[in-house]
Amino acid sequence: MEVIIQETAEKTALLAARVIAREVRVRPNLTLGLATGRTMEAVYRHLATMHRNEGLSFARCQTFNLDEFIGLPPDHPGSYHRYMTDHFFRHVDIPSSHIHIPNGMAADLAAECAAYEAAIKACGGIDLQLLGIGRDGHIGFNEPLSALQSRTREKALTPATRRQNASLFGGRWENVPARAITMGVGTILESRRCLLVATGEEKAFILSQALEGPITAWVTASALQLHPRCTVLVDEAAAEQLKGKDYYRWIFENEPEWAPFR
Ligand code: F6R
Repeated sequence: MEVIIQETAEKTALLAARVIAREVRVRPNLTLGLATGRTMEAVYRHLATMHRNEGLSFARCQTFNLDEFIGLPPDHPGSYHRYMTDHFFRHVDIPSSHIHIPNGMAADLAAECAAYEAAIKACGGIDLQLLGIGRDGHIGFNEPLSALQSRTREKALTPATRRQNASLFGGRWENVPARAITMGVGTILESRRCLLVATGEEKAFILSQALEGPITAWVTASALQLHPRCTVLVDEAAAEQLKGKDYYRWIFENEPEWAPFR
């Protein structure tokens, strides 16, 4: 794992977009794992700008979203289908047939989850998985105590996660669906590269637990410590409680891999 600290949330999002863009340019038929949430909005905004101004093309990419609420139609303003359309898909050139998001309206949710895993396999696995982190340490909707070998499945959401998502549900957490389909921690760990983005002081404590604390199902993001190629991009506010800050800063300033991004 490597941790890269940027001054601001905006710079962090821009770096995330540049890392993704570089991978897409090297391998235009990349299979991208995508996340939603406030942190990702700026990342998608930068990718859309690169598409518009620099000709960055997603036409040959396949995408797999991490999660979706159960019981919401795709056009519901709180659904992740709608989020992805509004923030990313309608601004770029990904063919709709290349877009995969779990169907939270499926009559047979277990079959939907199994089919999702099969679709990821059929595409050759995820090359680059974009991740945010919840205040409870979740990645995807892998809430505390999710098995670290879990696969795509139904998951009950914590009240904290429902509160975090309340803004698109009239500000009332009780209106946020109580269950979601999420890729499992095991599914995420099989991606060839993981890119975790975290910004803001409200992530500082949980980030220190996830990156520098023990690997535990209580903080599912800590499983990323097991991943052979995980890059964590954070702003100063989110990095506040990290013990290794000086070392992480040195890496960004000195490692040749980061030279094109400095
Ligand atoms: C959503 C997802 C979640 C979010 C996390 C952070 O698809 O995967 O794990 O990334 O809850 O959300 P924000 O960025 O809103 O703090």
